[in-house]
Amino acid sequence: MQTRQGQEKEKQMAGQAAAFLVEGGMVLGLGTGSTVAFFLEALCQKVRDGMKVCGVPTSEGTATLCRQFGIELLESASVKRIDLAIDGADEIDTRLRMIKGGGGALLREKLIAEMATKVVIVVDSAKTVNKLGKMPLPIEVVRFGYTQVKRRLMADFNFSATLRFSGNSPYVTDNGNYILDCSTGFIHEPEKLATQLKSITGIIDSGLFVNHCNTVIIGKENETIVYSVQSRERPEFVVQSWE
Ligand code: A5P
Repeated sequence: MQTRQGQEKEKQMAGQAAAFLVEGGMVLGLGTGSTVAFFLEALCQKVRDGMKVCGVPTSEGTATLCRQFGIELLESASVKRIDLAIDGADEIDTRLRMIKGGGGALLREKLIAEMATKVVIVVDSAKTVNKLGKMPLPIEVVRFGYTQVKRRLMADFNFSATLRFSGNSPYVTDNGNYILDCSTGFIHEPEKLATQLKSITGIIDSGLFVNHCNTVIIGKENETIVYSVQSRERPEFVVQSWE
């Protein structure tokens, strides 16, 4: 059983390792979450040492952190290419498919991942799973008629969907939408489910990322382990089992 302190250490190792992949002149995709925060801290040091980089943040939270760290930001609409995106994940399977959106930033994260030439995911070892679906799957939905989407998720997929709250009010994403956290049970065909969910009116996107990762850096105990797929469009097994 991983301790909280051990998990923080693993996140720090993974985040810091990703900073070694950054080269001067790169346009970066800057993910969201506590593991990415360690990456940004390490990147800040490189910027202070004179490296010139800029990036597109995937959330207002990351943008705020970058401003504190002195990392130059670009507007997503003005960017034609992203060389490298660094992001976290909530679960990652043996073919580097993921559940993301625990921090509520899944839509911008997916957009940036799809713009990026290379996507590197940084996680602690607790995020590795043999099958996705242990944690609830976040789904971003329009506010209007979200209860209809909720009913449909139950009727068509047998998902129990819970509206995410922040304090006493529904949580609102940076894009002005709601999040439904869905207990799915184990997801046997993530690609199929991702496509099915996208086709439902009212759903903007789901936290299923099925062809969005080139490389994962895992902090595990006192080391970092790196796995890559040849093609993120058709990800193959990087291990048979994480255990
Ligand atoms: C944000 O919406 C998520 O996709 C994060 O990348 C994910 O929740 C990982 O967060 P931590 O690095 O804080 O575990």
